[in-house]
Amino acid sequence: MELPFAEPYKIKVVEPLYRSSREEREKWIREAKYNLFNLKSEQVFIDLLTDSGTGAMSQYQWSEIMLGDESYAGSSSFFKLRDVIYELLDMPYFLPTHQGRAAENVLFSALIKENDVVPGNSHFDTTKGHIEYRRARAIDCTIDEACNTAEYHPFKGNIDLQKLEDVFKKYPAEKIPLCIITVTCNTSGGQPVSMENIREVSALCRKYGVMPVFDAARFAENAYFIKTREKGFENKSIREIVKEMFSYVDGATMSSKKDAIVNIGGFIVLRDKSLFEKASMFNIMYEGYLTYGGLAGRDLGALAQGLREGTEYDYLESRVEQVAYLGRKLQEYNVPIQVPTGGHAVFVDAKKFLPHVPKEEYQAQTLAVELYLEGGVRGVEIGTLLADRNPVTRENRYPRLELLRLAIPRRVYTDNHIEYIAAALANIWERREKITKGFRITHEAPIMRHFTVELERVER
Ligand code: F0G
Repeated sequence: MELPFAEPYKIKVVEPLYRSSREEREKWIREAKYNLFNLKSEQVFIDLLTDSGTGAMSQYQWSEIMLGDESYAGSSSFFKLRDVIYELLDMPYFLPTHQGRAAENVLFSALIKENDVVPGNSHFDTTKGHIEYRRARAIDCTIDEACNTAEYHPFKGNIDLQKLEDVFKKYPAEKIPLCIITVTCNTSGGQPVSMENIREVSALCRKYGVMPVFDAARFAENAYFIKTREKGFENKSIREIVKEMFSYVDGATMSSKKDAIVNIGGFIVLRDKSLFEKASMFNIMYEGYLTYGGLAGRDLGALAQGLREGTEYDYLESRVEQVAYLGRKLQEYNVPIQVPTGGHAVFVDAKKFLPHVPKEEYQAQTLAVELYLEGGVRGVEIGTLLADRNPVTRENRYPRLELLRLAIPRRVYTDNHIEYIAAALANIWERREKITKGFRITHEAPIMRHFTVELERVER
């Protein structure tokens, strides 16, 4: 028979997990004001809050930790990283930062002014936060198919060219400092962008004099989807695909905590020297000197090695196929999810799961709390709490999708954990009719409220 798929690595270090009781979880989540960010990690059995900085580093990455050169300037770890970035991404300028949002802060400080508009595909919340904080506006141009969770489309992260051109026609080029292509598109479900779309968006940007930039956090997973789903790329290597992807943009911000499989780190790459010089000034002010950017030398070394490993086909296959396995299990149990499954997470459609909970009572958050109570599994709401309020009217924004994201850390959980997660959700699906009440906010911050929001159960 054909041999089944198995991971191209084995486990060397084990971190024990505590299996709590439902009573303990009831108490802990109440004390956490029903905000899963407030839980202590020991109170969580399987943590799917994020795939960011939660991966398991390899023995080669840990070796780089020991080899780290902690010189303030000119560290050999910096040059190791710079060489890998040149080799993989073929971009002439590079700045290290301590994580992805720091890269956004530095680059946007050099680019975005008040009243600018920044089109893109479902900008990530920190990206949008950094745009809105500068009194500019993020305009979502994702294809409509991304909002129909039940409809299959191989590249739901794609940008709608008509929507994008409408933005380019409506605003003068000097008001559009950049167009952000998020690969993969986290907010719409870890959905990839096709090479064809990247090429066409880039051409449209050039026609209107706008700079195309990647939010590259999950660029390697995007490349895996291009290889496995897009015609003409079957025989190309992941690294060839990555190089071609980057050839269509003038820069990128990167959260290395995702596809570079490190616990901390980020960077900016740029093609233009004068923009690099402008961004360098902000990097020194916000992040640190140009050869460390808020990171220790050891972090730079682990990141260089992580970029190599993160762009290997065998690793990406085990990673993306584990996420797909969770998706298939959930579909077997009829749980409504965004199809196809994304690169880093399965997104459960909370509007379909809990139709009896009013949208004003946060359906996806309600499901997230239920899943924690059921099995100690921590997911995250990608819905109304995350969408926050309109910065001008202060009204709640109700996004088209209310999702519970189950983000899978890289190289961390086994398929038994995956089966446990699916079973916990299946149990809730069985009793979904009885869940009719959600939550009300008792405290919230003026921006990015989901991190610190406090909630109480609605009583009727
Ligand atoms: N861009 C995307 C697409 C992201 O998913 C993230 C982070 C960032 C930028 C910011 O990077 O965290 O290193 O500052 N996403 C994490 C998540 C937090 O859980 O999806 P960061």
